[in-house]
Amino acid sequence: MKGVTTEVIAEVRQRAGIVEVISETVVLKRAGKEYRGLCPFHNEKSGSFYVNPEKGIFKCFGCGEGGDVFAFLQKAKGTDFIDTVRDLANRYGVRLVESVEEKQHYDRRAQFFALNDAACNYFTELLQDPTGGATARRYLEGRGVSEEILKRFKLGFAPNSWDGLLRYLNNTMKVSEATLEEAGLVRRRAESTGVYDLFRNRLMVPIMDDQGRVVAFGGRTLGDDQVKYLNSPETPIYVKGQHLYGYHLAKEAIKAKDAVIVVEGYFDAISLHQYGFENAVATLGTALTEQQAKMLVRYTESKRVYLSFDSDPAGVKAVERGVETLNQIAEGVGIELKVIRIPGGKDPDECLRSEGGQEAFARAMETAPPLIDYELRQALKDADTSTHTGRLEAAMCIVPILAQIKNYMVRGEYIRLFAMEIGAKEDELSHSVREQIKQKTKPFRQENFGSSAAKHMRNRGTVGTPGSGGLAGVLEAERNLLALLLTNREDYSQAFPVVMDLTFNVPAHKLLKEAFQGVGDQFATVQDLTDRVMDRAAPDKAAAAALIDVILKVEEFRKQQRPSEVVIKDSFARLIKERLELANRQMRAQLASPLPEDELIQLQGKISRLRKLQDSDLPTASSLADLNELALKIDEIFGDSAGVAVVNH
Ligand code: UTP
Ligand code: MN
Repeated sequence: MKGVTTEVIAEVRQRAGIVEVISETVVLKRAGKEYRGLCPFHNEKSGSFYVNPEKGIFKCFGCGEGGDVFAFLQKAKGTDFIDTVRDLANRYGVRLVESVEEKQHYDRRAQFFALNDAACNYFTELLQDPTGGATARRYLEGRGVSEEILKRFKLGFAPNSWDGLLRYLNNTMKVSEATLEEAGLVRRRAESTGVYDLFRNRLMVPIMDDQGRVVAFGGRTLGDDQVKYLNSPETPIYVKGQHLYGYHLAKEAIKAKDAVIVVEGYFDAISLHQYGFENAVATLGTALTEQQAKMLVRYTESKRVYLSFDSDPAGVKAVERGVETLNQIAEGVGIELKVIRIPGGKDPDECLRSEGGQEAFARAMETAPPLIDYELRQALKDADTSTHTGRLEAAMCIVPILAQIKNYMVRGEYIRLFAMEIGAKEDELSHSVREQIKQKTKPFRQENFGSSAAKHMRNRGTVGTPGSGGLAGVLEAERNLLALLLTNREDYSQAFPVVMDLTFNVPAHKLLKEAFQGVGDQFATVQDLTDRVMDRAAPDKAAAAALIDVILKVEEFRKQQRPSEVVIKDSFARLIKERLELANRQMRAQLASPLPEDELIQLQGKISRLRKLQDSDLPTASSLADLNELALKIDEIFGDSAGVAVVNH
């Protein structure tokens, strides 16, 4: 969590004034108790954007965006929650709970940004140099890159010199050779002392982060160097898999077009921008990471992601490698993944620059099949379904792919379709897919869920066991149930009725439940829902803090991909166990000071009903309907006596 704890979050929220923070991007004018301005999230002339410093929230009545200071910065800057908190914590002097190494690491980042910026200036100036940059400019001209585009992408030129950049940086900034080396701009000489420029005689393509700061370079050879693209090594500000090429230039178009195009090559992205597809980004030659996938959908409401990778085997591989990651995230946030197939096996850059290429690309976009179709087709490409073994093999190829489809109705459709296609029996294929899903989602398997599962298992062992005192289990169980509502659409629709049936014991959770109730199903995405609940929870500090804990849990759930039934069942088990323990304690206490007869009978009844829930109803509950019924029973027993289980939050 890089030093970000619940306490840090609370402290930052308190110190960072929302008006002050938002004023940096929006001109705000006072309007009574609130502040008003033009919404940065949609195009408007009227000023429907309000900031309420008292509540610490903003809200646009035009486009509906809203949330707290963290939500604002995440939306405006495109950073994730943790980084947003970190940045604010640094600005407002909130100490992060972090090691000395972590702190030094963070401070050094600023220095690396400055160095890369200076280097970028050096390269762009050289490209514009009438004599020095002539070859590189001719190369770009030959590739049809316009003057405007090369400026927008800050393309540059590194001359064929061993110390051009080195001298430039020495003249403009005071910085040690070691730092330059660490920034990946120079390399240490093997035999003698000193360093030399890493990039020589290359066309320089700066890689920028989501805020447009240069973090690294790709240098394309202009000669016959074996290495086509030489890339900066990883540095404190450049970690592979955390960036998307062209992202900051594509953000607005991604929002406006409500879709994003992902390509492999620098020049594919550049060409797409030049030909009007400004919502394009490139992956920098590696398989998509989870972080990149999240960046991809940050600005799309409908979450349409078009993949346009090369049709050569490497490109196909890249799609396949990225698929698992993308699919996981896609399911979580509801991404619609499509694969653009360019006719003639060209890469996007080649396609666009060819005769009628722009139209061809646009058409390929319109007819792009969903990724799952693409994958299934790809898997069946070499299948021979004329023989029994061939059909079996084909089934084996597509079962894992079918098992990735989370929505069971959609899954059923595909199973039906492809059973027909490969000549398998539908119920057999369906059975195999179910088996595969079961294997994949076996709860609490460490190898499946990594370290958080291990932590989870430890928690399961300790929380709520006799002697642990408080009702941590209730707190945790309620939090988990609430988190399900924000994990994804499907989990939401499964968990919502259950949550509504239960009376929550933790006061802050009660408020959150009301907030969810208030919003109802009037939301576009779970992010949207999160914001709306945040809006409603914001006035109550405890509720707002509890919501942050819920949100942190959501992150965990998304990573773990635990099926909602499992989470619900697990939560119920804890609730019942804690409540049973509480009732047993009351029973023991009444030995010392006896209860009136009717109350004693009531308590005994409660205990036996809870035992029944624990011993028979819970273990046999297998469907959502069962769980719903269970929720009602739990509530019937304990809902009205909620006051008994006071939890110290
Ligand atoms: P390509 O070779 O398809 O790149 O590799 P490209 O952008 O289409 O290249 P040209 O200029 O049109 O010939 C795709 C991506 O893989 C990474 C780069 O990010 C490149 O854009 N790559 C490729 C490297 O990092 N190093 C290499 O040597 C080659
Ligand atoms: Mn290319």
